[in-house]
Amino acid sequence: MTASALLQVAGLRKRFGELAAVDGVELTLVPARLTAIIGPNGAGKTTLINLVTGALRPDSGRIYFKGEEITRLATHHRVRKGLSRSFQLMNIFGRLSVLENVLVPVLSRLGRTVDPFSRLEREAEARAEAEQILAEIGLGHARAHPAGAISHGDQRLLELGMAIAPAPALCFLDEPSAGLTPVERTTVLDLIRRLSVERRTTFAIVEHDMDVVFSLSDWIVVMNRGRVLAEGPPSLIRENREVREVYLGEDALA
Ligand SMILES: Nc1ncnc2c1ncn2[C@@H]1O[C@H](COP(=O)(O)OP(=O)(O)OP(=O)(O)O)[C@@H](O)[C@H]1O
Ligand SMILES: [Mg+2]
Repeated sequence: MTASALLQVAGLRKRFGELAAVDGVELTLVPARLTAIIGPNGAGKTTLINLVTGALRPDSGRIYFKGEEITRLATHHRVRKGLSRSFQLMNIFGRLSVLENVLVPVLSRLGRTVDPFSRLEREAEARAEAEQILAEIGLGHARAHPAGAISHGDQRLLELGMAIAPAPALCFLDEPSAGLTPVERTTVLDLIRRLSVERRTTFAIVEHDMDVVFSLSDWIVVMNRGRVLAEGPPSLIRENREVREVYLGEDALA
């Protein structure tokens, strides 16, 4: 276990039948470093997030969070320890209001601590906190709207709000800007940067837009066929020959 690591993954493997979706991944995420996980479709990025956050059990390997092994810990216990995520496909509750969508994870966090507050006080506290999150993500004006009725761009912002509601130390975002216009994309990604500083949350994002990846991230992990092909700061990844070969034809790194 590296002393400075927030998350450390060793020899992680997951097969689906014959397919090695995650095939011996070694990965270390350090606090405050915004990491982008990139790689072609099917590289194993989402599977890796599913393993780390507890949605899937690995066939082998170990996962450590804040120095403690969490390999077999249930998802909600990982969330409690400060590890959260958003989903590649939208995961909001369409019939609940925007505010309620954020309130659910906030209440679940406040509710599990044995605290001296009465239920009502706790609900008031949770509501204030959910309002604060909506203000931070710029959705205060939409608090009473059904989440299913707001724009796609606002829904992605809401997902971000839900992912930070558990006040995580480490938050995985699986394609947070998917389906957004370039302008919306910039808004979401600037917001992630700002939240990482203001909330002291370390983000690891999966992202396909290379302009975004190279301008936003401090560190890039390149996956291919279930393995980490390369990792390093953007300047080095841009020059990496193997990485360029994987992306050949997409001229993404041009
Ligand atoms: N539940 C599953 N059952 C069977 N195969 C799966 C399952 N989940 C993922 N796979 C396969 O595992 C491989 C890795 O998938 P994964 O979703 O992790 O890739 P990804 O890097 O997130 O891709 P994308 O960029 O398209 O989201 C793919 O070949 C995928 O088809
Ligand atoms: Mg994916």
